[in-house]
Amino acid sequence: MAVTTIGIILHGATGRICSTQHIANALVPIREEGGLAAGNDRIVPRLMLAGRNAEKLAALAKTYDAEWTVNLDAALSDREFSVFFDAAATHQRQAVLEKAIAAGKHIYSEKPVARSAADGHKLLQAIQGRGLKAGAVEDKLYLPGLVKLSRLAASDFFGRIAGFRIEFGWWVFDGTEVPAQRPSWNYRRADGGGLVLDMFPHWRYMIEGILGRMRRVTAQLSTAAPERIDERGVQYKVDVEDTASVLVELENGATGTIFSSWATRLRRDDLLTFQIDGSKGSAFAGLHRCWTQTNAQTPQTAHFSIAKDLGIDYRSQWSEVADAGPFKNPYRVGWEDFLRHIAAGALLKADFAAGIRDVQFAEAVYRSAKEGTWTNLAELS
Ligand SMILES: NC(=O)c1ccc[n+]([C@@H]2O[C@H](COP(=O)([O-])OP(=O)(O)OC[C@H]3O[C@@H](n4cnc5c(N)ncnc54)[C@H](O)[C@@H]3O)[C@@H](O)[C@H]2O)c1
Repeated sequence: MAVTTIGIILHGATGRICSTQHIANALVPIREEGGLAAGNDRIVPRLMLAGRNAEKLAALAKTYDAEWTVNLDAALSDREFSVFFDAAATHQRQAVLEKAIAAGKHIYSEKPVARSAADGHKLLQAIQGRGLKAGAVEDKLYLPGLVKLSRLAASDFFGRIAGFRIEFGWWVFDGTEVPAQRPSWNYRRADGGGLVLDMFPHWRYMIEGILGRMRRVTAQLSTAAPERIDERGVQYKVDVEDTASVLVELENGATGTIFSSWATRLRRDDLLTFQIDGSKGSAFAGLHRCWTQTNAQTPQTAHFSIAKDLGIDYRSQWSEVADAGPFKNPYRVGWEDFLRHIAAGALLKADFAAGIRDVQFAEAVYRSAKEGTWTNLAELS
C-alpha cells in the first residue's frame, strides 16, 4: 500500500462554507481516518489554510491541526501543495483562480466557478493549456433526499416525465430588527451577489443530473428588500434580486418551475423541495426525506367542494422512501471524487466544464429576465 499526501491550499478557509463543510466535515475526517482509499493505496490530505485574518486562521488551524498562511503567493509557490481550492467570497474568484493556475496548481472551486460562462471558459483554457486537473463543487445531488430521487429516476420509476417543481428559500431578515442570516456581499452585484448566481448553479446540476438536459428558460426576478443593514450595522442598497420565478423546458419536452426566494416564509416540507411527476408515478424530495405516489396510490380527484372542507390529508397518500443510507456528507463526496481524480485519474463528473454549465444556467436566467423572453441554453454554449 502506498500513501500519497496531497497538499491542498484552502483559500477563504475561515469563511462559513469552507470552515464548516469542507474542513470540519470533509477533509479533516478523511485525514483522521488515515486517508482515502484509492485502489490499494491511500490519499492523505495536508491542509494549508489561507486567508486574510491571521488570528482567525491560527485559531482554525489549531482546532484542526492544519498549517496556515496570510501569504497566498508564498503558498502558491510551495511545490508541496499541488491543489488550490477556492471558497472565498465569489467576487475574487476569477483573479485568484488565474493566479493558482499560473502557479501550476490543480483547481477545485466552490460555485459559481466564474461570474460568466465566458470567464469560466477562459479559466478552463488556461487549465487545459497547462495540463492541470480541475473540478467544481456540486454538492446538492448527494443530499439524502436527492440521492433517493436520483435512484428513483435511474430505476425508471417515473416513466415519461410530465414535469417538475423546485421550491427553495426562507426569510432572510434585512438587519433592522433582527440581524441578517446571510453575508451582505450576497446582496451586492459587484461582490458576486444575487440569488440567481448563488443558487441556480445548484439547480442546473440537480435538474440535468436527474432529468436530463435543459433546452430553454424564462424568468422573472424581483427584490423584496431594497435596503439592508450589513455586518457592521451600516445601511446599504441592494442591487440584486432576492426572488426568482423561473420556467424551464427540458430537451425531452417536459416543463418545470423553479421558485427560489430569500423573501418567503416557509410553509412547505423543507427548505428545498423537488417534485417530479411522471406517467407511472411522482416523487417529492426534501433535503433528507423523499415520498412517492404511484398510479395505484393516486386519488381519483374529480372536483373540489365549495360547500365544505373535505378534510383530506393529501400527504398521507404518499409512501416514504426507506433510508437506504448511510449517507456521506455531500461536500465530502465531492472531495473524495476530486482527490481520486487527482491521485488516481478516476473519472470526475463534476469537472470544471460542469461548473461552467452551472454558471451558464444562471446566466440564461438573467438574460431571460432582462430581455423578457425565453433564453435557449444552446445559444450560450
Ligand atoms: N456549495 C454550497 O452549497 C455553498 C454554500 C455557501 C456558499 N458557497 C460558496 O462559497 C463561497 C463563500 O461563501 P460563504 O457563504 O462561505 O461566504 P462567507 O462570507 O462566510 O465567507 C467568505 C470568505 O471569503 C473571504 N474573503 C472575502 N473577500 C475576500 C478577498 N477579496 N480575498 C480573500 N478572501 C476574501 C472572507 O474573509 C471569508 O473568509 C461563495 O463563492 C459561495 O457561492 C457554496
